[in-house]
Amino acid sequence: MADSTQLIDDLRDMIAAKGGNLYGGESVTQEQHALQCAQLAQDDKAPASLVAAALLHDIGHLMEADFEAAMDRGEDRFHENLGERFLTRWFGPEVTEPVRLHVAAKRYLCATDPDYHDRLSPASVHTLRIQGGPMNRDEVAAFEANPHYREAVRLRIWDDEGKDPDMNTDSLDHFLGIVRQVAEAA
Ligand SMILES: [Fe+2]
Repeated sequence: MADSTQLIDDLRDMIAAKGGNLYGGESVTQEQHALQCAQLAQDDKAPASLVAAALLHDIGHLMEADFEAAMDRGEDRFHENLGERFLTRWFGPEVTEPVRLHVAAKRYLCATDPDYHDRLSPASVHTLRIQGGPMNRDEVAAFEANPHYREAVRLRIWDDEGKDPDMNTDSLDHFLGIVRQVAEAA
């Protein structure tokens, strides 16, 4: 069992420092967005590992100084990889793979679900272009070969919905408790 005290301290520090930043072009903060995604996962009866992944999927946004400015310049800093690398120290693939794949899942859904693209927010359409646009057929096949792709798609749907300025959620402490349990079981 890993001692997750350092992890929880680091997460609290990152959220305290940058969680109040707006979530790229949306009307919620990074912290609200994280809590809403975790809440949606919990409401959807997802396993604890996926609730943790939902809370932490954008942790890469909080790890880089000028993330927003880079996106505005049309540069992709691959926050999903940054987040995955941080989380690998503490979690198995049931957490890190949905995090790593959550951007690819958007490109996947744009290629496989005709209604999905129409539901994306303007900011998400903008980043889709920077992220490579919809997947081609080979990319879809490769994506579906990953054993965690279904979890990544579930996470992606919550990611798209977790942008509601009026949504009520459980507390950060509640969800960090779940993160701690998942880390200590890994
Ligand atoms: Fe997100």
